Amino acid sequence: DDPKSLVLRPPVVTVMGHVDHGKTSLLDVIRKTSVTSHEAGGITQHIGAYQVKCQGKKIVFLDTPGHEAFTAMRARGAQVTDIAILVVAADDGVMPQTIEAIHHAKDADVPIIVAVNKIDKPGANPANVKNELMEHGLVPEEYGGDTIMVEVSAKKNIGINDLLEMVLLVAEMKELKANPKREARGVIIEAQLDKGRGPVATVLVQSGTLRIGDSIVAGTTYGKVRAMLNDRGENVKKAGPSVPVEVLGLNDVPAAGDELAALEEKQARTIAEKRMEKQRNEMIHAKKVS
Ligand code: GTP
Ligand code: NA
Ligand code: MG
Repeated sequence: DDPKSLVLRPPVVTVMGHVDHGKTSLLDVIRKTSVTSHEAGGITQHIGAYQVKCQGKKIVFLDTPGHEAFTAMRARGAQVTDIAILVVAADDGVMPQTIEAIHHAKDADVPIIVAVNKIDKPGANPANVKNELMEHGLVPEEYGGDTIMVEVSAKKNIGINDLLEMVLLVAEMKELKANPKREARGVIIEAQLDKGRGPVATVLVQSGTLRIGDSIVAGTTYGKVRAMLNDRGENVKKAGPSVPVEVLGLNDVPAAGDELAALEEKQARTIAEKRMEKQRNEMIHAKKVS
């Protein structure tokens, strides 16, 4: 892409951490405080990803169990996350899945922001969490390191805005850019077969702009974008870089982590069919070997 055609895009964030350290609670409070405030009665999230606004700037959260999403996507060579929020409960400290998450993020070269959660709890010891994290290479800024650590309580809604501001800060430093004026490229976040609507795929557009009527290929599936819905379930006509949308119109259910591309109709079909044949041959081969 011509550098002149690149524009800033919102960061895509994944939340990771040990069991019960508060990943879901954190995602919930972020969604509620940033989205619901101007919407009476709360919001129903429709897809496994959503956009929030902080200081007028957008942040995209992938609402998938961090580890699994990360592993599944990376196994397929897809890199969807720009920033990882690592949730560590202040009363529990660094645990096996905390360490695993650190390794995942480091392997993928994704910057980590630590959310030291549950600071409202009587047994909370954020200083201890930071010491433990240092043993795993995450040195907080206050000790001369470069890992941002924010003390939060997902339950009591403490520090959430600070955390979002830090996400924006890291995003700014990364200068995340994409060209919206080209054929869309993206990744399948999740997909399933809907009784009434057929195959439904949640797509994170990474570059270009996806439009209704576009011919697309995703893994071994292809089709034409028949309809798109945003994270609020509203119909949209197009989706640019870092926008998550539900896409209707594929001929079958693609796999999470599959790359999506918009291209010429015939080409989309040919590519999908070639991949399908290759997959079939590999299966036959695997059977013969075993
Ligand atoms: P898994 O998805 O099962 O790995 O858990 P999780 O990391 O999503 O944690 P979840 O949000 O389900 O929270 C686990 C428990 O911790 C729940 O009972 C929450 O209410 C509680 N919890 C989460 N955040 C806080 C917090 O900031 N303070 C307190 N006191 N409790 C919290
Ligand atoms: Na839990
Ligand atoms: Mg959870």
